[in-house]
Amino acid sequence: MSLAPQELENSASKYAAEAIRLDSQGSRGMAIQSYQRAIEALVKLVQIYPDYKLNKVYMERASAYQNRIKALQMSHGLEEEERSSLNKIDNSKQEPSNGHGTKPASSSSKSTSVETLKADFDDLVMKEKPNVSWNEVIGLEDAKRAIRESIVYPMKRADLFPLGWPRGILLYGPPGCGKTLLAAAAAAEIDGYFINVDAASMMSKWLGEAEKNISKLFKMARTLNESEGVPVLLFIDEIDSLLGTRNSEVGGEVRVKNQFLTEMDGINGKSKESQLYIIGATNKPWSLEAGFLRRFQKRIYVTLPDTASRTNLFTQYTSPLNVEGLLRVDELAKVSEGYSASDIKDICQSVQLRVVNELFESGKAMEAGTNPRAINMPDFKEILKIRKPSVSIDMIRAYMRWSDQFKAL
Ligand SMILES: Nc1ncnc2c1ncn2[C@@H]1O[C@H](COP(=O)(O)OP(=O)(O)OP(=O)(O)O)[C@@H](O)[C@H]1O
Ligand SMILES: [Mg+2]
Repeated sequence: MSLAPQELENSASKYAAEAIRLDSQGSRGMAIQSYQRAIEALVKLVQIYPDYKLNKVYMERASAYQNRIKALQMSHGLEEEERSSLNKIDNSKQEPSNGHGTKPASSSSKSTSVETLKADFDDLVMKEKPNVSWNEVIGLEDAKRAIRESIVYPMKRADLFPLGWPRGILLYGPPGCGKTLLAAAAAAEIDGYFINVDAASMMSKWLGEAEKNISKLFKMARTLNESEGVPVLLFIDEIDSLLGTRNSEVGGEVRVKNQFLTEMDGINGKSKESQLYIIGATNKPWSLEAGFLRRFQKRIYVTLPDTASRTNLFTQYTSPLNVEGLLRVDELAKVSEGYSASDIKDICQSVQLRVVNELFESGKAMEAGTNPRAINMPDFKEILKIRKPSVSIDMIRAYMRWSDQFKAL
């Protein structure tokens, strides 16, 4: 969600480009300095955002620059000794050819093999099917129904849909209410491929040009569907970032957006046999413009849980915990209005931490057979007092306003 890594990424990318330029001009010392700065920025990025999806890519880049520094230092040392006889180290072996510090473009050959395409997105594509069942997704009945109607049923009986069916679903709503979870549950139901990409990562300079990434991504999805004849579900998380400010090159945003619209048209206009589905998720639906929205025929508001759902959420997330007597989950549901599903999960986790903490503080945790005391109602009340909802009322109003105007069930 956050764009905060952007600046570090930009500065790493700037130093890398500079290093490569200096390197190719033969300014060894300055090139080394710039490579060093690029490495520092990349390492910092990984340290600050340890869970970021592109970290593997960043570390690969950092180590490539490190190698290049070593090679430059070595060639320098040797050159001092036998200045005349040494051939220059071949730059092309160490550095990407496109000069932007991006991954070497493996698409330069015309090959459209699925393997090549897959390799391009290796870090971003989830290959294993998620293990999430519909029952684990609490509430959100509209969303579940829409997904079943437009993905699961057509997949099973395409002959019942002579007029076709919607291929694009947009899930929007506040953070932590189950957008990603819903996509995972849909994927678990599909007997085919689930491609899970994060749009913010796709926009990264380190993966090459964003609009090419988009076209490669859709090509991969089509190729998988056509060559193996199985359904493919493409899940694009944080889809608003395709239109965001991440792509700082002039005209880049427009190109990315147009590429995406073209690809969506390709899918919507496809023959009935095509089993390619797109689920997009965003918590900034207002940043999507009309053209974009129109391509998602179903637009579903993934809301904060209502009282009944909160009851079920408390039941689900306390079920593995040791609770004193019968927990009054409906009372908890009443006092947790405004909390998201993921807030409720966090609350249950915090309550468990509290009793475990007590056990450790008592010094008895390491004695054989000791367990934390049972959790009780006051524990929940205490945690609720110190943990406020992560979504503000203003945000909810904004979603509701947008929803009134644009939802499509
Ligand atoms: N409807 C739900 N039922 C059960 N658990 C939920 C539900 N919604 C969210 N959770 C819990 O909260 C976690 C985070 O939810 P999820 O990642 O689906 O939110 P999201 O809507 O995609 O948020 P974001 O906009 O931040 O990406 C889930 O992994 C799950 O544990
Ligand atoms: Mg999500």
